[in-house]
Amino acid sequence: MSKIEINNVYKIFGNNPQSVMPMVKEGANKEEVLEQTGHTVGLDNVSLKIEEGETFVCMGLSGSGKSTLIRHLNRLIDPTDGEIIVEGTNVMSFNKEQLIDFRRHKMSMVFQRFGLFPHKTVIQNVGYGLEMQGKQLEEINKTAMEKIEAVGLSGFENQFPNQLSGGMQQRVGLARALATDSDIMLMDEAFSALDPLIRSDMQKQLLDLQSELKKTIVFITHDLDESLRLGDHIGILNAGKLVQVGTPVDIIMNPADDYVRAFVKDVNRAKVIKAKIIMKSTNDSDDIDKTNLIKVNEDQFIEEFLPQIVCSNSNCEVVDKSGNVKGYISNKELQTSLTKS
Ligand SMILES: Nc1ncnc2c1ncn2[C@@H]1O[C@H](COP(=O)(O)OP(=O)(O)OP(=O)(O)O)[C@@H](O)[C@H]1O
Ligand SMILES: [Mg+2]
Repeated sequence: MSKIEINNVYKIFGNNPQSVMPMVKEGANKEEVLEQTGHTVGLDNVSLKIEEGETFVCMGLSGSGKSTLIRHLNRLIDPTDGEIIVEGTNVMSFNKEQLIDFRRHKMSMVFQRFGLFPHKTVIQNVGYGLEMQGKQLEEINKTAMEKIEAVGLSGFENQFPNQLSGGMQQRVGLARALATDSDIMLMDEAFSALDPLIRSDMQKQLLDLQSELKKTIVFITHDLDESLRLGDHIGILNAGKLVQVGTPVDIIMNPADDYVRAFVKDVNRAKVIKAKIIMKSTNDSDDIDKTNLIKVNEDQFIEEFLPQIVCSNSNCEVVDKSGNVKGYISNKELQTSLTKS
């Protein structure tokens, strides 16, 4: 069973969403629906599965439906059609109490525009979820201070949000989401307001946290490098449609259409592709010249051995940890695989 399952979800915004469903189901696109009915297609027949302990990244241009999608998961938005299953339960079946409990304990969210309480201090904002869980003040403050420290805001705990920069407010939102220790975290552009150094630092922290705690994270970003660094799987939305889901390597090597191709065209493939992804297996490599081979490990990124290969004009022998030969990479094919789009 997947941790989260989204089955054929449609979301139409407007006065009478149901009235335009037949048209959308027959294949009318977002533009046509808006022009002919004044309704906006937020999501168009989206289905996907998110597994326990993975980081699922959702990418797409502005307005493609990323926030709409993530907000269905904790029912900030109800679907026009389709179902959202979390740990085997349809979230539409929750009554009011169950929904409150679900939001307090199961999922935490970092909002795109921070969503802080202006009249609460940093520590009160960070401790809010714990307060809602009914924890004692002493424990709330202790945990909140730990998270404030983790996001690098020690010393600011008694300030109010409007006394902080945008990036600092974003980190308060992040600390608040970490504090409740829910096993699903929804992160809508959680790092986008941060400057590059802090952003890279927060990505590292999230990866460290993940390797230890194995939370299920749904992470939205516009940034391809961020999605490649964080994502176990990446889903790409275009005008409400999910156009591709895959591992970072799938997305880079086999973009499903021009839209995805445009996203990945500038990526430095050598930085994200490992030797084992592009090698030819030992019995499929008769055409590769085996004199003067350079030995590389199957888990090395191309970037690490590329200069050596190019300078020496040699082919590669790919080995595993114990030194067993797993395959070969031809110098020439390596260079074309890096440039093909
Ligand atoms: N409450 C709403 N009422 C009407 N239309 C909405 C509403 N919320 C979202 N939409 C529309 O749904 C589509 C998807 O919006 P959404 O906010 O999910 O985009 P996004 O991918 O998160 O964009 P961004 O990267 O700018 O945050 C857009 O066309 C938007 O205009
Ligand atoms: Mg958004």
